[in-house]
Amino acid sequence: MTEHGRPSIGPILELCGRFQQFAALVAACRLRVFAALGDGEHPAEVVAARIGAPAHTTRQLLNALVALGLCKRTPSGYRNAPLAARFLDPASPAYVGDFVEWFGDGFAALATLDEAIRRGGPVGLSQSGSDLARLPPERLERYVRGMEQISVGTARYLAERVPLAGRRRLLDLGGGPAVFACTLARHHPELHVEVLELGPVVPFARRRVAAEGLADRVVVREADYKTADLGEGWDAVLLSQVLQTEAPEAGQALLRRVAAALAPGGLLIIHGVMTDEDGTSPPHVALMSLFLLALFPGGAAYPWTEVAAWVRAAGLHVDHFGRLPSPALTAIMLARK
Ligand SMILES: C[S@@+](CC[C@H](N)C(=O)[O-])C[C@H]1O[C@@H](n2cnc3c(N)ncnc32)[C@H](O)[C@@H]1O
Repeated sequence: MTEHGRPSIGPILELCGRFQQFAALVAACRLRVFAALGDGEHPAEVVAARIGAPAHTTRQLLNALVALGLCKRTPSGYRNAPLAARFLDPASPAYVGDFVEWFGDGFAALATLDEAIRRGGPVGLSQSGSDLARLPPERLERYVRGMEQISVGTARYLAERVPLAGRRRLLDLGGGPAVFACTLARHHPELHVEVLELGPVVPFARRRVAAEGLADRVVVREADYKTADLGEGWDAVLLSQVLQTEAPEAGQALLRRVAAALAPGGLLIIHGVMTDEDGTSPPHVALMSLFLLALFPGGAAYPWTEVAAWVRAAGLHVDHFGRLPSPALTAIMLARK
């Protein structure tokens, strides 16, 4: 953008303004504005009473949500736009508000990104290792529920494409709330899955396994994947969104342990946020690297070519790399022992 041949300040102002867009979205989720609107049409005063805020600030927020396309202005007040009704009203089965709120928690860390960059890692509590147990319970819950809400579609995509037919034992390291484990097990009735997770996340995973009626084929073990005995002879190992939360040395050490635990011919599935070789593309993935840096010690969106080099150094053959369709930011790498 230029003014009389000189760069315009417009793009800088636009970047500054994006913070307000995100802040409005997070505030609306935290205040349950979309729930307060539900499937009705309400004046600001009614929404204000439901969320326990003054009418004038509620109106300001609602007007901003209209500007963002998340709400509609009507003659009698406001209502949810279809996007908000589908994804941001807790009554919807496709609700992702906890994921948005988890991003909101991360926003506090991004506000001190300069300090995180200077220090070489998160300022304050990270979201991994022993820090997980020190997170306030509601923050831990948002993290885990956020993972759960955002990974349902991705897990289905993986289940339909990753060649697991004929493989019977899968180890899922850092399996979170077991969405991937359960989805893969449902898709492959012969498959038995063991999920390794840290203590604070284990109850969430076990609840999901029980709710899906998969306790006979999906087991959740409380263990640290860096130190636990990973066993041997696994037909497949899944590392979903794990390497991006670890420093390069830790990721490489984990890959060596995984390679030792795989059976000959065993399949390693790496799913996560990885940039292209240049580290700068795709743009959304390169930016996500900063979020990972601010939240996880050593966290980064590594170039997939670097991850592939680690996998080869661990003695595995890389067979495939591909990106998931938009809006997913993640990619899949498959390797064989
Ligand atoms: C970003 S989440 C990914 C969860 C899940 N695999 C997914 O793709 O949705 C990373 C998970 O790894 C777990 N984790 C982190 N460090 C771990 C460790 N040392 N041992 C076991 N699990 C760990 C975290 O608790 C968290 O649930």
